[in-house]
Amino acid sequence: MECVSPFKTDILKGKVALLTGGGSGIGLEISTQFGKHGASVAIMGRRKAVLDSAVSYLQSFGIPAIGLQGDVRKQEDAKRVVELTVKQFGKLDILVNAAAGNFLVSPEDLSPNGFRTVLDIDSVGTFTMCHEALNYIKKGGPGRSSTSGGMILNISATLHYTASWYQIHVAAAKAAVDAVTRNLALEWGTDYDIRVNGIAPGPIGDTAGMRKLGPEEISNKSKEYMPLYKLGEKYDIAMAALYLASDAGKYINGTIMPVDGGLWLSRPRH
Ligand code: HXC
Repeated sequence: MECVSPFKTDILKGKVALLTGGGSGIGLEISTQFGKHGASVAIMGRRKAVLDSAVSYLQSFGIPAIGLQGDVRKQEDAKRVVELTVKQFGKLDILVNAAAGNFLVSPEDLSPNGFRTVLDIDSVGTFTMCHEALNYIKKGGPGRSSTSGGMILNISATLHYTASWYQIHVAAAKAAVDAVTRNLALEWGTDYDIRVNGIAPGPIGDTAGMRKLGPEEISNKSKEYMPLYKLGEKYDIAMAALYLASDAGKYINGTIMPVDGGLWLSRPRH
């Protein structure tokens, strides 16, 4: 069922958003909803074909969109992509870090390099993008007023609130992402008027994460632990992102919003 947005279509009018991992899954849904609510959208990803198809999809709704190939693990890519976004659209208002790596593996079968790879993508990649975006997204940056900074949104997860089988690398990576969110919210909120928030999605249907992380388990037994007894939709994450990115969320800073139907409450604490 196609869900209709409850928000007015101009709540991000005139805003420019850059989304890593914006070409697929949750990232693409956020890109689409941002665009449908008035933003110009730059999406960053490693795979050109995925980007091309996502840009065509976004443009089919009349959304001003560009695809920028790059790997968040490379600082030079991050710098180039941020610069190209500003060159194309004149400024940067919203950075969404949605790029992530994932696979199921037990700790004994995971090489230190495998562990490092996911931290490099999720945690270091998030920090690198924020670092490269700072000069554009801070108050007084190009195309910005001297008093008003932009907004950063980091996508993490809830699995590190407790522990998760075969996800030691991802749990470590997402814990670091949440730490980056809080610390930047404190320091960059104070110094640069930048709001930094997070969204922690639960199990969301029709995503790479769900395909990889055991859809059968989720759709059968684990549903019993879900307070709402159903999977989330990419739409749910995008609506939370819209709320946080728009003026409705203008006093929200340093919050990591779980969007999981309350599932995190039901995980055992040991
Ligand atoms: C064990 C693995 C592995 C696997 C990679 N490695 N896949 N180890 N099991 N399935 C190890 C490799 O052996 C290697 O270590 C190291 O990781 C780097 O592997 P590469 O293949 O060279 O890395 P790369 O090509 O850069 O790919 C990294 C990747 C990434 C993490 C595998 O391509 C990827 O996952 N892409 C999918 C993106 C994705 O699924 N996104 C959705 C995320 S969902 P050695 O020691 O051998 O050199 C999500 C939800 C989280 O984040 C929350 C859920 C609740």
